[in-house]
Amino acid sequence: MSGQAPTTTESGASRILIFDTTLRDGEQSPGASMNLAEKLQVAHALKELGVDIIEAGFPIASPGDFEAVQAIAKEVHGPTICGLARCNFADIDRAGEALKGNPNSRIHVFLATSAIHREFKLKMAKDEIIKRAVDGVKRALIHVKDVEFSPEDAARTELDFLTEVVQAVVDAGARTINIPDTVGYAVPEQYAACIAHLRKHVKGVENVVLSVHCHNDLGLAVANSLAAVREGARQIECTINGLGERAGNCALEEVVMALRTRHDYYNLETGIQTRRLYAASRLVSHVTGIAVQRNKAIVGQNAFAHEAGIHQDGMLKERSTYEIMRPEDVGVPQTELVLGKHSGRAALKDRVSTMGYHLTDDGLEKVYEGFKVLADRKKVIYDADIEALCEQQVHQVQVQNAWTLEAVTCNAGSATIPSAVICLWDRDGVVHRDSALGDGPVDAVFKAIERITGINVVLKDYRIRSVTVGEDAQGEALVEVEYEGKSLTGRAYSTDVIEASALAFLQVINRLTQQSAAEKRIRPTENPV
Ligand code: KIV
Ligand code: ZN
Repeated sequence: MSGQAPTTTESGASRILIFDTTLRDGEQSPGASMNLAEKLQVAHALKELGVDIIEAGFPIASPGDFEAVQAIAKEVHGPTICGLARCNFADIDRAGEALKGNPNSRIHVFLATSAIHREFKLKMAKDEIIKRAVDGVKRALIHVKDVEFSPEDAARTELDFLTEVVQAVVDAGARTINIPDTVGYAVPEQYAACIAHLRKHVKGVENVVLSVHCHNDLGLAVANSLAAVREGARQIECTINGLGERAGNCALEEVVMALRTRHDYYNLETGIQTRRLYAASRLVSHVTGIAVQRNKAIVGQNAFAHEAGIHQDGMLKERSTYEIMRPEDVGVPQTELVLGKHSGRAALKDRVSTMGYHLTDDGLEKVYEGFKVLADRKKVIYDADIEALCEQQVHQVQVQNAWTLEAVTCNAGSATIPSAVICLWDRDGVVHRDSALGDGPVDAVFKAIERITGINVVLKDYRIRSVTVGEDAQGEALVEVEYEGKSLTGRAYSTDVIEASALAFLQVINRLTQQSAAEKRIRPTENPV
């Protein structure tokens, strides 16, 4: 289904367009940066999920962002692919270049309109803002037919001025008008009233889609989005797991399930295949390294767990006593135990795709080889084991790594100073060896890697957990570091936790090497225009 989905469905309900910005606003979450291969995985999963529009990135922000938008526009067909641009010709032309060749593409132009932003950030008068917005929309229309305009910080903009800006960009040819609550300041009634006001006062508003984009600083992003659709907004901008700047954006899985579960109240439908929500959430959590909180609505580990005896009793008698959604409707696996040593390629392929991974035949073959090796070592293979194998595959297909682990050895115990010896290959196939002492074996491993690569980072978080159960379970190491004010995460798996830790740390170092110092990234809200 393209971004131009029908406005009503067969059942007569109105259709809500789902605009996913996990790859743009979501990626602005500290530590959530993804490489090209990871972004492509997520884009394919979003397509399978049935989102109408994928905001694939902010092409002028960095060569990596440009490349990602270009690759997604080329490879992912079905949803509209969107690129973000500030309201200046250089940004807009760069977005147009990245999207070139995809007939189903959109440029999303934004410019701040609130008094605070006008005075302190832009230092522009109201009439200059209007002129700049109109010129931006017209410029974008040279590249694509489908232009979206966002008056940034709309929720804190004077209603009269907001109406003026929206009228001007509608007249200039924008098809979608997005009303961002950039700082998560709005409350439901006020935000809904803003949409109602625009619907009443903007001429020609019936020919455009009004969109909402809510941040979650007060925990109201989903509530605000729902209040707005009651007043006629027909596009919701959201992210998987609610990722995004600061407290994040409206969570896709929550807003979609609210509309579905309370269809009786909203009478609105989306094109989302809700049974794919859980897999999409897991995938995004894996590639970003940002865990989903246990009690997170819809996709958290406890979302369908009933602990109290009285609830369990009620559930056994009649599920609807305590359950408003069925776990299977959002794709929560009914059983974790999936495959064994004798399972074939077809079963594995089916499982991999149900879990939201999109691998090439070659990638799948490598996962199958890894699966066979693991099946020899472990009695049972769980979903999490397969996820781990797919993850390794996704990371391996990224641009060639600067460093590869050859071997790690460490020595630790109560009566010794922990030490580690590391052996790495560089890109040219040269072997480098070094050793270090540390406060513990993992610290020693990280220090030895830093000595070889010459990159020193500040370790912010380090976690190790078992991905499945049993003595033979694989360990997952998660590393979060800070480097020049930027936060990065790495994640790796192995049945040996020291090896998993070394691999996760090396992943961070490789990410840093890829995003070389030359690649200074612009954040959309950082530079005025
Ligand atoms: O929050 C915001 O205002 C944005 C815009 C770029 C749409 O993300
Ligand atoms: Zn935003």
